[in-house]
Amino acid sequence: MSDKPTLLITRKLSDAVEARAARDYDVRLNLEDQLFSPQELLDKCQTVDAVLPCHSEIFSRDVVVELPRRLKIIANHSVGTDHCDLAALGEKGVVVTNTPDVLSDATAEIAFLLMLGAARRASEGDRMMRAGAWDFWSPAFMVGTQTTGKRLGIIGMGRVGQVMAQRGRGFDMEIHYYNRKRLAPDKEQGATYHENVEDLLPHCDVLSLHCPTTPETTGMMNNARFDLLPDGAIFVNTARGALVDENALIKALSSGKVAAAGLDVFQTEPGGNPKLSKLENIFQQPHIGSATFDTRNAMGFRALDNLDAFFAGNKPKDRVA
Ligand code: DGY
Repeated sequence: MSDKPTLLITRKLSDAVEARAARDYDVRLNLEDQLFSPQELLDKCQTVDAVLPCHSEIFSRDVVVELPRRLKIIANHSVGTDHCDLAALGEKGVVVTNTPDVLSDATAEIAFLLMLGAARRASEGDRMMRAGAWDFWSPAFMVGTQTTGKRLGIIGMGRVGQVMAQRGRGFDMEIHYYNRKRLAPDKEQGATYHENVEDLLPHCDVLSLHCPTTPETTGMMNNARFDLLPDGAIFVNTARGALVDENALIKALSSGKVAAAGLDVFQTEPGGNPKLSKLENIFQQPHIGSATFDTRNAMGFRALDNLDAFFAGNKPKDRVA
């Protein structure tokens, strides 16, 4: 029998990450990369010391209470931890870690792609070309929204939000933000701080969400808040679908209050929202904000670093519970 800790890796990770994990742990892989049902997840957890899950594995309180005593750490392959009931895991004495920092560039890239794709009607143009339906051109054809020099509003000025702001500055955008705490001047870099979301929204030609899902932020973008945006704003969400009341977004997109939206995250994943997909003025991706080769390696290595620290008897760097 191996004396290495037993580790369940719930999804297919990069070859380099799986090779390092296999070197240092007695690993159980999910070779088919199929999503486990809650019962399958629980069953697989019964015989391991550690789990390295993604945001697709839900550790609700019901699951957590059934976890075995031997399971000591959940080292997430994600920065978001809303799939984990941290209170229940804390009560059970399970350590939880995440992977901050390493996905900030990749996620801000997708946010920028979504902003530009939505503003410049990229999905409409692409669909037209693929259908062989481009049969007309005029200066009035497919006119979109220019983002250069406009006001970029950011909710959640953590690591990803700060990179997004930096990219926006490259487009001469004026940065406005709301964050629970105002940033220090060296991080703020001239951005305008708003003390609450309501104050921020009227200043957002583009609004991009970069905050975690908490009981306070769930459903935060509702009818009343979409109404506070300037007419014709662009809305971007790469954070979590739960932040948005999708019916309110559909209403805002249908009325033109929001000119276009770029979305990487949805209330229902996988799958998205068929009612959103019916709208022309939307540019969507299937939750791939951090899906670059570089970042997937970095996320996997960071999760393994946390496991290594834990099993060496140290505090993992990215402990969240
Ligand atoms: C994250 O890290 O939270 C991303 O959404 C991918 O899981």
